[in-house]
Amino acid sequence: MKIANVSHAQDRLRVSWAGGHHSEYHSLWLLDNSPEHRDEHNGQRRIDILDLPEDPEISDVAFGDEWIEVTWAALGKSARFPVQWLEDRCNCNAHIFPPIAPRPELTLWRTEDAGRFCEMEYREFCGSASARARWLRAAASWGIAFLRGVLCEEREILLVASFVGWLRETNYGRVFNVAVNPRPNNLAYTNTALGLHTDNPYREPVPGLQILHCLKSADGGESLFVDGFAVAETLRQMDADAFDQITRTKVEFRFQDASTELSTCRPLIQLHEDGSIAAVHYNSRSIAPLKLPADSVAVFYRAYRRFALLLSDPRFQVRMHLNAGDLVLFDNHRVLHGRTAFSSSEPRRLQGVYLDHDGLLSNLAALERTLGIRYVSR
Ligand SMILES: [Fe+2]
Ligand SMILES: [Zn+2]
Repeated sequence: MKIANVSHAQDRLRVSWAGGHHSEYHSLWLLDNSPEHRDEHNGQRRIDILDLPEDPEISDVAFGDEWIEVTWAALGKSARFPVQWLEDRCNCNAHIFPPIAPRPELTLWRTEDAGRFCEMEYREFCGSASARARWLRAAASWGIAFLRGVLCEEREILLVASFVGWLRETNYGRVFNVAVNPRPNNLAYTNTALGLHTDNPYREPVPGLQILHCLKSADGGESLFVDGFAVAETLRQMDADAFDQITRTKVEFRFQDASTELSTCRPLIQLHEDGSIAAVHYNSRSIAPLKLPADSVAVFYRAYRRFALLLSDPRFQVRMHLNAGDLVLFDNHRVLHGRTAFSSSEPRRLQGVYLDHDGLLSNLAALERTLGIRYVSR
């Protein structure tokens, strides 16, 4: 029995749990969340705040092993709540966290951790839901995951993307081709080296995920990856002033071509309200001239250089050659990527797509629910 004691006042239900903590559920909250107000098929609430009385008075409570029933006699209503559902929503001091969107647990990494990256054969990924759940979980936690042996077909990447989430179409197309282009609108479409960066910080919102599928590899053209969160945390420890500047100075990111004008302002490191790192956006190709007083420019450039130095530190960089059939998914708000130069006579060719974050998290949660790995209460 989970319940030690149940009592009530007019305006609340009190539950003492066998585990030693106590919850108090307000009468209006209970009425608002009454199961009868939810659609039986999709679980959505069918009422609005104005459909509820302002001060519903609880007249009685009763309970069993698995349920607690609350009655509002004056309204001619009662509602039965599953005990587990109530305990999951405990509001004692130990359990009342500020509401934040669910976030995956992060594993920060450096060069030496590359051996623990999730790499999976494409056949296993396509053939097994539990393998896909493992891959998506790793991608959410590490911000990067690899597939090997992906069919080297044009647009095969779309099949992978459909297992991950929902595509984010941009001016580069639903699927973009990273190949040498004689009149490129972006330096990505050349054979030059590309410094570490995240993609499209000039977009609102910035695409959350990127998938790159190597159709043809070339000599040179090695790929670089860095965990921007690990570097940002290191900057925070080593140089709190620089970290502070970077998180507080908004820079303008811009992209223009014949048919596109994109611009937005954001700091290079964005924080959540609780101070944890929300995003890293780093792309020297697209930072517009800073609009800051000269003194502030000096302070910002110092911090920017500190961050850049850490990003280029070999302790953080993972360098690898993507071969035909290799595919990488990475979090574009976290993992910086780059490449070394390659010979333009070699037809190196990658296809890429962007996706939003929420699709990955949704697919992962739904898979884990279906597989019974994780209970999701609503
Ligand atoms: Fe890129
Ligand atoms: Zn509690």
